[in-house]
Amino acid sequence: NVLILDFGSQYTQLIARRVRELNIYCEIHPYNHLPEDMSVFKAVILSGSPYSVRNEDAPHPDLSQIKGEKPTLAVCYGAQYLAHFNGGEVAPSDTREYGRANLTFIEEEEDFFKGIDKGSQVWMSHSDTIKKLPENGIKLASTNDVDYAAYKIKGESTYAIQFHPEVYHTKDGKKLLENFLVKIAGVPQTWTPDNFVEMTVESLKKQVGNDKVVLGLSGGVDSTVAAVLLNKAIGKQLYCIFVNNGLLRKYEFENVLHQYEGMGLNVKGVDASARFLKALKGIEDPEEKRKTIGRVFIEVFDDEAHKIEDVTWLAQGTIYPDVIESVSVKGPSATIKSHHNVGGLPDFMKLKVVEPLNMLFKDEVRRVGASMGIDPELLGRHPFPGPGLAIRILGDITEEKVRILQEVDHIFISGLKSSGLYDKVWQAGAILLPINSVGVMGDERTYEKCVALRAVESTDGMTADWVNLPYEFLQKTSNEIINRVKGVNRVVYDISSKPPATIEWE
Ligand code: XMP
Repeated sequence: NVLILDFGSQYTQLIARRVRELNIYCEIHPYNHLPEDMSVFKAVILSGSPYSVRNEDAPHPDLSQIKGEKPTLAVCYGAQYLAHFNGGEVAPSDTREYGRANLTFIEEEEDFFKGIDKGSQVWMSHSDTIKKLPENGIKLASTNDVDYAAYKIKGESTYAIQFHPEVYHTKDGKKLLENFLVKIAGVPQTWTPDNFVEMTVESLKKQVGNDKVVLGLSGGVDSTVAAVLLNKAIGKQLYCIFVNNGLLRKYEFENVLHQYEGMGLNVKGVDASARFLKALKGIEDPEEKRKTIGRVFIEVFDDEAHKIEDVTWLAQGTIYPDVIESVSVKGPSATIKSHHNVGGLPDFMKLKVVEPLNMLFKDEVRRVGASMGIDPELLGRHPFPGPGLAIRILGDITEEKVRILQEVDHIFISGLKSSGLYDKVWQAGAILLPINSVGVMGDERTYEKCVALRAVESTDGMTADWVNLPYEFLQKTSNEIINRVKGVNRVVYDISSKPPATIEWE
């Protein structure tokens, strides 16, 4: 187990991901909330920070349990912090120390740089620089502009680097992390999906005992993997509820429910379409739609949960990025604020929360799912928003509009699959526009709906770009939609990136 002490750098999560890629488990903790039990951590990484060590309000934690006590790797701010408070000197740098640089000097005898050659490219991102090493500091590497690109403390397993090993542009960054964690700190590389499943099943058994657990399935990757894990641990004590809000894709409810049953899950499908549509009647505002759907979902879920006698736990598919987001590092007075997903149970459901995935990144959730034999097609599904088609029908929602959009969406998504394009796209869907346009079919003038198709590439949904789908594919899809879906006479393709647009239209 490795501790990453977060000083608020935008790259902290990346450090964790790189460490996990080495099959080593790690946890991120804010610098001002050290974990109570430090004995479980074999090594510590100090992250970068937006602060300068010279600022009055810069993070200034007590490292007496860390430096000199455990193998420690200090990155960027961490490296400057160790220098500044241990007899070294940190000052604003005269030259720009951003972006690409090459290591012009490396102390090759060191395990730290094993397998890394002089000239290796590193990525810098700091405006301060170390002018004088701390007490007992020994220089390990330099670049043209940065004399102390890396150093260590004599007599300790303390290493410090001013560049960022976690970013892709530091070519040997992963090797360096491996050298530090495996060669120097001796951390075992045992964090594999199989081990995770085994460990988690054991701990879930202990945590839950003979109690009953209720879980809301959505058809998405996270809730499915959480359910399969819990099913392995407690079997029929797990009660899954899969709600049809009437805003799912065509055939989605039936297909996914069938799939869940095939996986041996104790699942109840609840068709609440009418209740949702009734509540949504006449609502045009996107946020109002979201709130209404959220409220009705809680009502439906609560009704169902009450039917399970003596249930005491609510399971959620919360994943690690949601948890990290909820722990803010904003100066010494940092407080833990609660994220909407974390412990986000309504007041009236007095259930204890169990979150088996709350230490996993998205790609790890998929790997764990695969190791438990979940269908790769299910694990590779595009993200789909909770409010579903409601935010892809611009304006008010009616049963007829839902039907039209389901047909259009089905033709588009099936086409992507049969053309081998589905896995090249991060997310795709169709949008029903609130306008009619004139067309001509046979000898008849038509005045019907227009739909937009959207397909984007992205890694996390924060930024996205439209996908250059082949013209032949768009042509075929458009023909099929207009010929087959009654009420639509025009198809357009959305060529906006995010930012400035968003992925969804509402
Ligand atoms: P935007 O439109 O903000 O979408 O670029 C980014 C990602 O978030 C999804 N999304 C939602 N997911 N509830 C959800 O569960 C919502 O209200 C919601 N709004 C957007 C969207 O599908 C995309 O993947």
